Amino acid sequence: MKIKEEMFIVEGSNHQRNLKGSIKVNGSKNGALPIIASAVLFSGPIKLTNVPKIEDVKRMSELMKELGLKVIKDKNGGMVLDGSTTKKHVLTREVSKRLRASVILLGPILGRLGKVSFPHPGGCVIGARPIDIFIENFKKMGCTIEENDGVYTLTAKKEGLIGTEITFRIQSVTATETFIMAGVLAKGKTILKNVALEPEVTELALFLKNAGAKIEGIGTTTLEIEGNGLLNGLEKETAIIPDRIEAGSFLILGAISGKNLTIENCEPKHLEVPIKILEDAGVEIETTENSITIKGLKKGFENIKSFNIKTHEYPGFPTDLQAPMTVLLTQGEGEGTVFETIFEGRLNYTDELKRMGADTKMYDAHHVIVKGPNHLKGKDLQSPDIRAGLAFIIASNIAEGKSTIGNAYLIDRGYETIEKRLKKIGMNIKRVKS
Ligand code: EPZ
Repeated sequence: MKIKEEMFIVEGSNHQRNLKGSIKVNGSKNGALPIIASAVLFSGPIKLTNVPKIEDVKRMSELMKELGLKVIKDKNGGMVLDGSTTKKHVLTREVSKRLRASVILLGPILGRLGKVSFPHPGGCVIGARPIDIFIENFKKMGCTIEENDGVYTLTAKKEGLIGTEITFRIQSVTATETFIMAGVLAKGKTILKNVALEPEVTELALFLKNAGAKIEGIGTTTLEIEGNGLLNGLEKETAIIPDRIEAGSFLILGAISGKNLTIENCEPKHLEVPIKILEDAGVEIETTENSITIKGLKKGFENIKSFNIKTHEYPGFPTDLQAPMTVLLTQGEGEGTVFETIFEGRLNYTDELKRMGADTKMYDAHHVIVKGPNHLKGKDLQSPDIRAGLAFIIASNIAEGKSTIGNAYLIDRGYETIEKRLKKIGMNIKRVKS
């Protein structure tokens, strides 16, 4: 699969509020990936709608086809996946190196075929991203593991995965998702303790329960799953939930540069903490059932008032919005501390903000202090991961002068036709070959 070398060019607004109108949110990347992977648990087709047409979904679809599943996509976000022809247990390096979320497939493939081979998963360079929790707990379900030449092979007992009690040492999103799916096909009962509570995890569990899986405790930190074999295909279509990180990214973009900017087709209830932080900081925000409108600054506020951020598992402030929020702090009045508690490599992009003129100081791999407001100047930037890439677009829009943001593919992993949608609300952005 040849990745196009492209970059974005942004002509900055020079610290004006240049964005208005409305922008629609697409289906959730981190909601779609586990539900697509769950097709391996079914003996017939599942039908999805509102699937985002982003690179990570294309990679996951390629992996599903390599496993033998039939995948049919239509042009408006519909997808049918038929698991009846699942037959291969090998995740190839070419695709899974580009997609950290390929680890979600380990549980379904092991449960279905009793064996899975895979390279250490790739994806964002936001830290070591170990897979010790996966290996440790598949062993607990009776698997043996061998590794040669960078390829791991997990093999279940001949009677298949054995249900057991698992306590996660941390609330891991994809580990929770893969072990929920392992439990659906395991023999006996699987109890999962200290599970992640992200909406995308809850949606996966509800989807499987609606399809006949025996899952109790959904929405709490302990799940009980009674293994009862393959699930039947579903006639009824399932809509992927709106992407709360995309909506949150646009919310923060609007908080900095918006005046009467409305974010549509989103779930404000998934963003209560970021909305609260921004309202306290002086941003005028109105919400309805499925939209968020950023009016501008509240009366009496010259600038956004700076604040401290501490990333936390859901429902706390999401690590995936940390980079956009740090850009906002470069324009905040005062000093803000950014404490990234989830990943150790997720603050490196702040060096680039410094190069643009931000006053940021990194204390260690988890702490940065940002003073503002600071004048930013356009620069040539390279996006290091999906979310910092979008943060660079946000920073370039505020800045004075022109910026380029390379590695457009990394942003396309999580945001569909981003430049077209941002242009529509007033950003001077275009995509060119690098
Ligand atoms: C999911 O990644 C998301 N990806 C990430 O979004 C998100 O940042 C992250 O959850 C946290 O919310 C998908 O859902 C596809 P974790 P995941 O396991 O599951 C450590 C984006 O931009 N850990 O919850 O990989 C890990 O290093 C992406 O959309 C282990 O130590 O994250 C991290 O410090 C980026 N050992 C912590 O757990 C393991 O075996 C939480 O990570 C697994 C994880």
